[in-house]
Amino acid sequence: MSIEQIGSSWLLHTQNTTYAFGLNSLGLLVHQYWGPRIASPSALPTIPESEGWASFNHPEHLLPEEYPAWAGMKFVEPCLKVTAADQVRDTVLVFQGSQEEAAELPHVVLTLQDPVYALRVRLHYRVHAQSDIIERWAELINDSAAPLRLERAFSAQWHPPAGPAYRFSHLYGRWNDEFHLVRETLTPGVKVIESRRLTTSHHHNPWFALDGGDASETQGEVWFGALGWSGNWKLCAEDTGFCTTRLSLGVNDFDFAWDLQPGETFTTPPAYAGYTQNGFGAASRSLHHLIRSRLIPHPRALHPVLYNSWEATLFDVDAPSQIRLAQLAAQMGVELFVMDDGWFKGRRDDRAGLGDWTPDPLKFPHGLNPLIQQVTALGMRFGLWVEPEMVNPDSDLYRAHPDWVLHFPTRQRRTGRNQLILNLARPDVQAHLIQILDDLLSQHDISFIKWDMNRAVSEPGWPGAPRDPREMWVRYTHGLYHILETLRSRHPQVTFQSCSGGGGRADLGVLRYADQIWVSDNTEAAARLRIQEGFSQLFPAQVMEAWVTDANRGQIPLSFRFHVSMCGSLGVGGNLTQWSPQERAEAAHWIEVYKDIRPIIQFGSQFRLRSPSQSACSAVQYLSEDGAAGVLFAFRTHLPDPAALPPLRLQGLDPQALYAVEGVPEPHNGAYWMHTGLPLMLGNFESALLRITRLP
Ligand code: DGJ
Repeated sequence: MSIEQIGSSWLLHTQNTTYAFGLNSLGLLVHQYWGPRIASPSALPTIPESEGWASFNHPEHLLPEEYPAWAGMKFVEPCLKVTAADQVRDTVLVFQGSQEEAAELPHVVLTLQDPVYALRVRLHYRVHAQSDIIERWAELINDSAAPLRLERAFSAQWHPPAGPAYRFSHLYGRWNDEFHLVRETLTPGVKVIESRRLTTSHHHNPWFALDGGDASETQGEVWFGALGWSGNWKLCAEDTGFCTTRLSLGVNDFDFAWDLQPGETFTTPPAYAGYTQNGFGAASRSLHHLIRSRLIPHPRALHPVLYNSWEATLFDVDAPSQIRLAQLAAQMGVELFVMDDGWFKGRRDDRAGLGDWTPDPLKFPHGLNPLIQQVTALGMRFGLWVEPEMVNPDSDLYRAHPDWVLHFPTRQRRTGRNQLILNLARPDVQAHLIQILDDLLSQHDISFIKWDMNRAVSEPGWPGAPRDPREMWVRYTHGLYHILETLRSRHPQVTFQSCSGGGGRADLGVLRYADQIWVSDNTEAAARLRIQEGFSQLFPAQVMEAWVTDANRGQIPLSFRFHVSMCGSLGVGGNLTQWSPQERAEAAHWIEVYKDIRPIIQFGSQFRLRSPSQSACSAVQYLSEDGAAGVLFAFRTHLPDPAALPPLRLQGLDPQALYAVEGVPEPHNGAYWMHTGLPLMLGNFESALLRITRLP
């Protein structure tokens, strides 16, 4: 049984964990337990009570409430902050009842209500037992006759056990340099990471891991989670100074307001979290499992090897240039040919065209279909780049609808990459984009859309908004999801890729609509090793598109560059017209190898054996779903000689079973490979791809 109610406690069991909360004597819904699965109720700690501490710290400040609202003498980060019509800013949530939902997954809803202001809060808990993940979100319902203003509406607050100073792991970066992993010990106070940029952003990611400071890739307790949201978000990691730590996250309250009218409901995005005793690697695999089994639209579809034209032709696309690339790509075994930026009306460079999504008549006088037919005749599918949220001032769309962009009437409309942002919060903008993209997909045989977004927000105004214009932050993201959902339901065979100048929109929210993420515009193989390691903290290899390009061509061997990209969903993005016949033959070889091993990489489990940020000699291993086959990639970047490379200890094997590792004459059992390891001989900028086979 996944959900149990014992007395005034609710226990949510996953395969290996239990998460529990209960109603205490003050009537507060408080967190009770989060750790290894509890077999008997006697192992459950008692429901937290407190008398407070001195006149300065009342019980509700100290107690780990599941969903604290700002009220009374509570100074910790709240999940909810509300102003009532009479300006009272004090929300008291009284427990009303609980109810299990009849649904595919175990799901319980706890209802609380403010008795004076009739604000009803429905706290949802859904159990992803196989992934060891609890999903939470809240519905805020105005049952009164007067509006209520929401000023903060987070998705969840998570409570690891009271005790140590926790170490907080998170990701930071910037354009072209995403997904740096940082681990820092929390001290009393609040550490905030967030996005105010309209998208998830390259700068931080709504993902966290907490540990006691001693977890490793393979061992130790880790509490981890992520938010399913692609707009502004905020994550507060708070050491309360009372030996407790709280992790709150949700839609960013910066410049946020939402007028909840009588009868209306505000639904927060989902927050996901889990616990493991087996270190950061297991924490990542839990999230990978969740993403693959519950979020992405086409979980069992193997991603084709794609070619992307961007780095080869930039904006200079036309039918002859693309056909030449397509012919060479097809000869190498590429399965999907994607034409990037530059194909639409007026697009010569980044100064014009965005908004006018019809083929440029000079570049494609007969439209796109002749090119698509040629690509198809070469045995490949066709994909296309779009950036629908944007408009260049030099475009027919902007000339017709200058009021459709985000702007403040008294301020200059600042461009980024010469473009302005269409206000996706507006239903007319949503309807327009649905129509033109639906037409594009209906009139052409397109199986892949790369959906790009190339600037951060400025002047986030919505003149003429029917409600508080600050609702734009949330309504924009809802608008984006609505467009993607509508297109997906009309064209279910199309795969969407989420790109925002690289990894600016990488999150568990967009993955409900997009099967892939373009991780970074940085395609330099050595840099990618580090970027991919950061990305893998929460995202599986299946959603990680990685191209082999011309970056460091001639300096880093093609085999090394292929091996790096083969760690995810393989693509090629170099200018093939410049590649020698030998390079193209070698590329064809690696593409063939990749096709053979990709079920292991895309559907299997990933193990980070050695970190490229900590060692010039790094390695990552994948193991098939049934554990019978594996692949190991090892990389050495620059390490002064003489270098002694320690053996690589494999992971995830059955200790008793016998395994052969390519290149090693003797098979050994799993225990040997995991404890003694594999000797490694690599020179600078050499790499290895070794297959692992379980013997009968
Ligand atoms: C940014 C993307 O990340 C690139 O891959 C490419 O599509 C360009 N935009 C095109 O403008």
